Amino acid sequence: MADARPFHWEFEPPKIPRERYLVNGGVALEGTIQVSGAKNAALKMLAAATLTGERCRFSNVPEIEDVRTMAETLSDIGVVVDHPERNVYEVSAGDVDWLFVPLEAAAKMRASFMLLGPLLARFGEVVISNPGGDRIGRRPVDLHVDAMRALGATIDYRYGYYYAKAPGRLRASEVRFPIVSVMGTENAMLAATLADGHTVIRPAAQEPEVDDLISFLQKMGADVERTYPDTIEIEGKRRLRGAEHKVMPDRIEAGTFAIAAGVTGGNVVLEGADCATMDALVQVLGKAGVSVSCQPDRMEVDARSAGPGKLKPVDIETGPYPELATDIQPPTTVLLTQAAGDSRVHEEIFEDRLEWTGELAKMGAKIELKGPQLAIVHGPAKLRAADVEISDLRAGASLILAALAADGTSSIGGAHHVRRGYENIERKFLDLGARIERVQEGELGTSE
Ligand code: EPZ
Repeated sequence: MADARPFHWEFEPPKIPRERYLVNGGVALEGTIQVSGAKNAALKMLAAATLTGERCRFSNVPEIEDVRTMAETLSDIGVVVDHPERNVYEVSAGDVDWLFVPLEAAAKMRASFMLLGPLLARFGEVVISNPGGDRIGRRPVDLHVDAMRALGATIDYRYGYYYAKAPGRLRASEVRFPIVSVMGTENAMLAATLADGHTVIRPAAQEPEVDDLISFLQKMGADVERTYPDTIEIEGKRRLRGAEHKVMPDRIEAGTFAIAAGVTGGNVVLEGADCATMDALVQVLGKAGVSVSCQPDRMEVDARSAGPGKLKPVDIETGPYPELATDIQPPTTVLLTQAAGDSRVHEEIFEDRLEWTGELAKMGAKIELKGPQLAIVHGPAKLRAADVEISDLRAGASLILAALAADGTSSIGGAHHVRRGYENIERKFLDLGARIERVQEGELGTSE
């Protein structure tokens, strides 16, 4: 493997097309949309496919930028990635040319760090860029690194890169996390599938996407099981085989559209939504006065009798699953601007995930920050069109929701953030009767 080099000096930020959403609000959304596959499951499965040299096939993969970035990152290291039809990806990691995940990949997407566990476990070494932080807080990777060390790897950090080695085979171990981490759990679990012996991960994240990953790993022949709600146990195997898997529905996308119905006083049917994975949000919607009816693979959200300005205030607090997801906090905050009274929003997971509310305030929302992780939303606020800027994926979707509820035409810059994680969001909103378009603006030089 090449010795340490100051890769940063060679780094050129990716060029990102500069696009805006133009949203003419005031329409109550009505209709049916199909929920896409879950981003936060698909990305980990694409990484997990490198645990075997045999072909893995995934269906219901969302057509989003983050998936394209993961596919490109895999291709760049010599993995064969095919995209034979829409929403289907095939990955064959028989030969890998480079055990090196560059800063270019890490700068685009934190989930590139999910290649640490599988490449280290299968090939015994990898050099991988520190993904750093993004616009929702520091987001370190110390828990991932400590988990690999617990499994017997040696890891040095030089010039922004982790140099990880595990000559021979990783050794199974008890992996203890000081806090619950979704990708930390997943990285440790992927690595342990090929380690020598029995690994116990505790506390393991309980997000449904982790269980979808477990079910894919089982199809690959891995001996992995959630033995208690917060415990995953793995008996390492020498080899895994190729497998096929249909990615679970995206509960955050479904939640975003459920809230769109609530905030516009509409009625939306979400085909493919799995209510069982969305209980905390369903409860918040119910308390706010939005009616939700759940059937297998289908959810109907009816806010026609509640409507903007007539919802009830609700105090919310995010937390690891099964608590309310931090990713659905920004859309929920928009909903609470339409409640008749004050709501408390406590963001427990990420330190800067309320910062974007400054943009929401430009649209007339009355939000009082009591600290970086606590806000009081004073409702109801009459939202008005504004020119605002997106700082990250979920904040972006949330500004669209606010614009849908506002009078007039809003201009929302930074559409590329939303395209990272929502498949064709404007098409889906158009299908529900929204007036939205995405327009090009030229080129912007940097990523988040
Ligand atoms: C996953 O990020 C998701 N990303 C995030 O979704 C989601 O917000 C988050 O889980 C929490 O649910 C993907 O699955 C690709 P964590 P992850 O490790 O795994 C701290 C979206 O919008 N921590 O569970 O990186 C961390 O700072 C994205 O789709 C450490 O201190 O989150 C946070 O406070 C954004 N050290 C807490 O743990 C570490 O090494 C939980 O984060 C790792 C995390």
